[in-house]
Amino acid sequence: MGQNLNKVENLYDTVAKEYADTFSGEHEKKPKDQEILHRFSQEIGDRRPVWDFGCGPGQTTKYLKNLGIEISGLDLSEKILEQARAIHPEIHFRKGNILELEFENDSIAGVVAFYAIVHFTEEQVGIAFREVFRVLQPAGIFLFTYHIGEETIHIDEFLGKKIDIDFMFFPTDFIFSCLKGSGFKKIEIIEREPYPGVEYESRRAYVFAIKPVVRKSP
Ligand SMILES: C[S@@+](CC[C@H](N)C(=O)[O-])C[C@H]1O[C@@H](n2cnc3c(N)ncnc32)[C@H](O)[C@@H]1O
Repeated sequence: MGQNLNKVENLYDTVAKEYADTFSGEHEKKPKDQEILHRFSQEIGDRRPVWDFGCGPGQTTKYLKNLGIEISGLDLSEKILEQARAIHPEIHFRKGNILELEFENDSIAGVVAFYAIVHFTEEQVGIAFREVFRVLQPAGIFLFTYHIGEETIHIDEFLGKKIDIDFMFFPTDFIFSCLKGSGFKKIEIIEREPYPGVEYESRRAYVFAIKPVVRKSP
């Protein structure tokens, strides 16, 4: 069974302001985030559209927008979207569910999802990857991040608010085989150590996964 989406939505509704205040400028303190986002912007070039799924207050959306990418954000939590729209009025943000995407097949050039899978069970990660694969155009790029590990951490206090939620860590071999099973072919996983004093001290991974181009036989 998956983690209840209402619980996840309620969590980010509850901490929306505090989350935005805490994480809005985070990429400035994380050189590897910057390197990876610059690489994404170069690889996506002028292909469109590009979406930030599980965008939160829109810090990654904005970072890519500043690099010249036409990008929109999608999230489950209406309150965190209010924060995103208030901070970045020039960017389009809309409500949506990664596990049930309201997009046509083969319609999106690039998807970014920073820590959007942190509340998913392994089963939900599989559903999310298949959904992203479905909506990506052939040769489309999926860039996402996760916390590396085996553990599930139950949290009952976050950013000064009482909550009740699980944060999931994933082993890299699980992520790799789940992407393969969803149809992705070219997969690159880049791991790094945490930045002490800047973020929660977990090992992190960035993933570039490409949807293959299926050539029709003559
Ligand atoms: C850990 S936060 C990451 C936010 C932002 N990307 C960042 O890096 O700070 C996870 C975000 O994913 C969103 N989220 C979780 N499950 C989702 C789902 N099924 N569909 C859309 N958004 C989801 C949450 O509302 C939250 O804003």
